[in-house]
Amino acid sequence: RGGFHEEPRDIHYSFAGPFGRYDNRQLQRGFQVYKEVCSACHSMRLVAFRDLEQIGFSKPEVKAIAKNWAVETPSINPDTGEPATRKPLPSDTIPPPYPNETAARAANNNALPPDMSLLAKAREGGPAYIASLVTGYAAVPAAMHRKFPDFQVPAGLHYNPYFANLTIAMPPPLAADGQVSYSDGTKASKEQMAEDVSAFLMWAAEPKLDNRKRTGVAVVLYLLIATGLAYAAYRNIWAGKK
Ligand code: HEM
Repeated sequence: RGGFHEEPRDIHYSFAGPFGRYDNRQLQRGFQVYKEVCSACHSMRLVAFRDLEQIGFSKPEVKAIAKNWAVETPSINPDTGEPATRKPLPSDTIPPPYPNETAARAANNNALPPDMSLLAKAREGGPAYIASLVTGYAAVPAAMHRKFPDFQVPAGLHYNPYFANLTIAMPPPLAADGQVSYSDGTKASKEQMAEDVSAFLMWAAEPKLDNRKRTGVAVVLYLLIATGLAYAAYRNIWAGKK
């Protein structure tokens, strides 16, 4: 990579460390970014609308969210020849933006926007990588031109030092501050939107993280106490022996 690749930025997430927990308000903002920006190209096939109750949306809110999508049915609409659609149920998974891979590639310069359900766990660097990538578009550094005078960004691609290939087919998805308007009053800077959506993707990929950490802390405490008891019993049993 010629030394031009960059490691993900150091981002502090609320769920970092053994006592870290997801912040539902952040996850809800992140879902909003997914819905209003990323879902135009990226599917999230493993997440059902009702799963969003886990991040604090109420049942009526989940129903209202699902109304933004339509689910394709096996039958054909006789007027258009396209698959007929129906309203999603809370138990439906989020419908994908394209009917198949060919259509997805046709719309994206032959690149395939990966499904986002597990993306935060599938990529080295996790959520920090995702946040860095979407805010990491840059001009080609002068050093690159010096080292590789013939280097050019191929047509339809974009220079991004966080992407392994250095050039990526995805156009900058977060182009301007305020691209979404948060209802909780948080300022939607590009960095904020990137952190929120990457936190949401982490939750989607590992929804049980909080439980796992809570159990882990309890197990360590239990083992500490059990060790103390075992040691006390040992002292007790051998107390009179020389
Ligand atoms: C790839 C995130 C919006 C099109 C990716 C990757 C991530 C990502 C993490 C994978 C990079 C990798 O494979 O390591 C996001 C986020 C978005 C967003 C967080 C919303 C904020 C969009 C939109 C489009 C798009 C709106 C279409 C206009 C693509 C394509 C790829 C891709 C085509 C594959 C790139 C390649 O292989 O060169 N995106 N994306 N993305 N995304 Fe997005």
